[in-house]
Amino acid sequence: MQKDGDYNRPMTHDLSTLLGGLTPERFLADYWQKKPLLVRGAVPDITRLPGRDELLALATDEDIESRFVSQAGGWQMRHGPFSQRELKRAAKPWTVLVQSMNLASATADQLMRCFDFIPYARLDDLMVSYATDGGGVGPHFDNYDVFLIQGMGSRRWRIGKQKDKTLIDGLPVRILKNFKPSFDWILEPGDMLYLPPEWAHDGTAIGECMTFSVGFRTFPAQELAEQFLMFLQDRVRLSGRYRDPDLRRQKHPAEIGSAMIDQVTEMLSSIRWNRSTVCDFLGLALTEPKPHVFFDPPAQPLSLARFTATAKRRGIKLDQRSLLLFSGKHFYLNGEPWRVPATDVPLLRQLADKRSFESLASLQAETFTLLHASYCDGFIDLLP
Ligand code: SIN
Ligand code: CO
Repeated sequence: MQKDGDYNRPMTHDLSTLLGGLTPERFLADYWQKKPLLVRGAVPDITRLPGRDELLALATDEDIESRFVSQAGGWQMRHGPFSQRELKRAAKPWTVLVQSMNLASATADQLMRCFDFIPYARLDDLMVSYATDGGGVGPHFDNYDVFLIQGMGSRRWRIGKQKDKTLIDGLPVRILKNFKPSFDWILEPGDMLYLPPEWAHDGTAIGECMTFSVGFRTFPAQELAEQFLMFLQDRVRLSGRYRDPDLRRQKHPAEIGSAMIDQVTEMLSSIRWNRSTVCDFLGLALTEPKPHVFFDPPAQPLSLARFTATAKRRGIKLDQRSLLLFSGKHFYLNGEPWRVPATDVPLLRQLADKRSFESLASLQAETFTLLHASYCDGFIDLLP
């Protein structure tokens, strides 16, 4: 895990610049999930983000999810890690895409956090791509809301809201068969393009270029249902057993008798779930770390007493990889319930929102025990 030690100097957090003069409320009302927005000069300090060499180094790391897409001699796609040699030799044009750059770079995390006017429950990650001249992943659509921020170089974006979502068969990448763009823009470093889900888009590098994509997930209903049923299966506890002391001989031994169907219907009708079950499901599912995420517990953790004293003096922050969400007084940290003492709920909500927290003096001893356990798991760090 690389960290670019620039944590104390935040990326520009001027929302008016980021949103081209719109307030977040106006953006949400007029653009979010409705129509694209192009903002020139949205991220003036874009050059502080990791550059090509850092990105290509991450693509060689087996713990980081990366993809290589090439158009040379037909569309090809390979999953990382890649050796530098392999990339140098690849026929151009090509693109390398690295997922979750926010986990590897503090400035990338800060850029992603500028979008905190959208709930963390919708946030996925910050993906970064590097393309050689003419490179891109082809015309396609995503089921994501995405803010495409231009890093180094220029990129031509053509976009359109077409109904025809037919993809070309048999390709390793999702390419639209009949791409019909209605807008055509060239983005320069720091420019940003917001795209709602299902807008067709095609970005082509003009010279070498990098694009930072802050992605917000949306859930297909079927996937939600399947995941919820798996969640429920671990929680359902039904008592009793099928019984039939009044069994009568049936005319057809092969028939599933109506008394059996009635009894099983009755049994299954006692499977219950409500809003609070759904809340727990969402809290645990949305904070579950991605499969390639591992935490680094401190090699020599401080004792509870020393942790408490140091945390009171310096404050704490969530580890960059940690996901902490809450609903009412229920907290969820990295796929587990986080049982917060009721009196400290308001303060720990601040930790969840801001991801760091300095005024710990008034917290209960019980809360320090909880924070210390999470610190020992590597989920929470002491501020420097
Ligand atoms: C890219 O960064 O090359 C692709 C981003 C996208 O089209 O979603
Ligand atoms: Co896309």
